[in-house]
Amino acid sequence: MQKIWKNGERWIFAERREQFHMKILLLGSGGREHALAWKMSQSPLCGQLFIAPGNAGTAQYGQNLDIAVSDFEKIKTFCIENAISLVVPGSEEPLVKGIYDYFQQDAVLKHIPVMGPSALGAQLEGSKAFAKQFMQRHNIPTAAYREFSEETYEEGVAYLRAHSLPIVLKADGLAAGKGVVILEDHEAAVAEFTQMIKDAKFGDASRKVVVEQFLTGIELSVFVLTDGHSYQVLPTAKDYKRIGEGDTGLNTGGMGAVSPVPFADKAFMDLVEERVIRPTVAGLEKEQIVYNGFIFFGLIKVEGEPFVIEYNCRMGDPETEVVMPRLKNDLLELFKAVADGQLSAQTIYEDARVATTVMLVAKGYPEAYEKGKVISNIPAPTQDQLVFQAGTRAVGADVLTNGGRVLTITSLASDLGIALTHSRQTAEIIDFEGKYYRRDIGFEFV
Ligand code: AMP
Ligand code: GLY
Repeated sequence: MQKIWKNGERWIFAERREQFHMKILLLGSGGREHALAWKMSQSPLCGQLFIAPGNAGTAQYGQNLDIAVSDFEKIKTFCIENAISLVVPGSEEPLVKGIYDYFQQDAVLKHIPVMGPSALGAQLEGSKAFAKQFMQRHNIPTAAYREFSEETYEEGVAYLRAHSLPIVLKADGLAAGKGVVILEDHEAAVAEFTQMIKDAKFGDASRKVVVEQFLTGIELSVFVLTDGHSYQVLPTAKDYKRIGEGDTGLNTGGMGAVSPVPFADKAFMDLVEERVIRPTVAGLEKEQIVYNGFIFFGLIKVEGEPFVIEYNCRMGDPETEVVMPRLKNDLLELFKAVADGQLSAQTIYEDARVATTVMLVAKGYPEAYEKGKVISNIPAPTQDQLVFQAGTRAVGADVLTNGGRVLTITSLASDLGIALTHSRQTAEIIDFEGKYYRRDIGFEFV
């Protein structure tokens, strides 16, 4: 029993913790993982939480470990020595590399649930061609496309020259979020296509290229948790990927987000369930693709209808930083239901308030930036505001910047305008050299 559990109420809570004794290993080091750590630590089921490798924020809720997310050997040793009872991968990397299968194929690790898909299921994110073929097989609405490789390069060039503009080119594999390029003219498209296929612009990831019809509409992120049979829909979110205000400039990992998405009303979400979510989960089950975890649907609404832009096999970042604060359920209870195949018995409860998050980034991001700047004035969490750390590292009593996306300020309020103002006020107060953030997150909705 830890010393912090002093007063009567907390004492009981601590005893319950010991009774259930869930020992969790969370993999990752971003704002998403800070939000997941914060959320899981609130559960009475949470005994002990470890984060590999974590950041200065996750360290407030558990113990950070010097283990990389894809070092399966070290993860295995740690899980055995510490009797870990649940593994939660935050990012796609360990999932696409097969952490689920690695656990399943090991006699000792087999009984430890891993919240995520098998390597095959993770191909929904790991291969754009796999995802497109899957959608075609199951009649899931998505942009028309063709895939090409070295062998069909000449055919691809001819196809591009006859394609309507703009043209969307997607490297098939994971390319650190940079593998999608939208071209406004045919010659530029052919040049990019050539670089991808002939010059391995994205390494092995661009050996195969998906050429896709450009869709015009408004994007949103929809998240479900599935146990492979049933699913639960989590709060919706919209993220802001461009570095500049008014959605201009380079793409980033995400500069902010809002939840819920104002235009994702019941009628639209019913369509999303009927045309996208249900056929996806049923398709995975029918094809016997093992999938126990989050599915992130990157959608675009075109004339009232949903189309899938991409699948991800994990939660979004920074979407998690607005979704988790609005999720009223005990996240570990949901994870336990997934592991037990009992998810259909759960009901999702959403906070009626809206949430916004505003990301503070380092000067120069998403291009070259400096690390190691001292961060000051990070406020303590309140009922209506939480600061989730991303690229940070604790050195003694200081918190230093340690990445491009440094931290994100999530505010909850009855109204989007109020929440945004509150996040921006705190964005002014928190300080580090070269701080930058977008003042217009949620601009279409206020
Ligand atoms: P992705 O890496 O698949 O998320 O794609 C990055 C971004 O490219 C998406 O968030 C969209 O803004 C854009 N995009 C991808 N595919 C299309 C498409 N078919 N039509 C229009 N925009 C697209
Ligand atoms: N925010 C988009 C993503 O996590 O991929």
